[in-house]
Amino acid sequence: MKKKLAFALDVTDIKQAQKIVDEISGLDIIIKVGYVLFIKGGNSFIKELKDRNFEVFLDLKFHDIPNTVYNGVSAVKDLGVDYLTLHTLGGPDMLARALEAKGNSNLKLLGVTILTSHREDYIDYIGSRYTIDELALKLAKTGIELGLDGIVCSANEVKKIKNEIKKQFLAVVPGIRLEGGESDDQSRVSTPKAAVESGADILVIGRPILRAKDKRKVIQDILQDIS
Ligand code: C5P
Repeated sequence: MKKKLAFALDVTDIKQAQKIVDEISGLDIIIKVGYVLFIKGGNSFIKELKDRNFEVFLDLKFHDIPNTVYNGVSAVKDLGVDYLTLHTLGGPDMLARALEAKGNSNLKLLGVTILTSHREDYIDYIGSRYTIDELALKLAKTGIELGLDGIVCSANEVKKIKNEIKKQFLAVVPGIRLEGGESDDQSRVSTPKAAVESGADILVIGRPILRAKDKRKVIQDILQDIS
């Protein structure tokens, strides 16, 4: 399968987002819209992206009671986006209801395992007897067995997760940094090439592109790197 790049359009102003979209128009990438931009731009911004033929990844990371998530996924389905995230930590009943809401639509449900910003001390915080890697694997297995289309995990865990889960699924990996770049608030980071070599199918990259003067060129270089 062709490796894909999901550009995290993490800006807080809709005009700025539209300007960036103009700059990168026509590139074969997914645009990831988080809740900040979704709050600002709503459905009409999603429609603009679809009209420009981008695949759209709505990163709302649902984590709520099963009934609320069922209604949330049903509402997102009507938007015609391609990918939607939810937290596997929300539990199997929540995931099952999300899958029920998805039905046989083309929406792909991606389960976030453990955020790439978390370090080992998170394990103490939630009182888990697992390490971060073990917990990410356990959550990924549960999500994929229930029928999620993919999971979101760090490059550190993706190899193990791909090896241990025999079913086909999408491994979506954020926390990607270009050679020599800053890691910001991400803890478990990798370069694009290393992440795809470990088994990532979709790379999520935000700030390394957003900070660049020539965003189009940086995206093209990454696409070349992972092809
Ligand atoms: O700027 P940066 O490349 O760190 O952006 C990563 C993006 O991926 C952000 O939009 C963040 O919300 C998202 N994300 C993440 N870790 C996850 C899931 C999503 O960093 N586990």
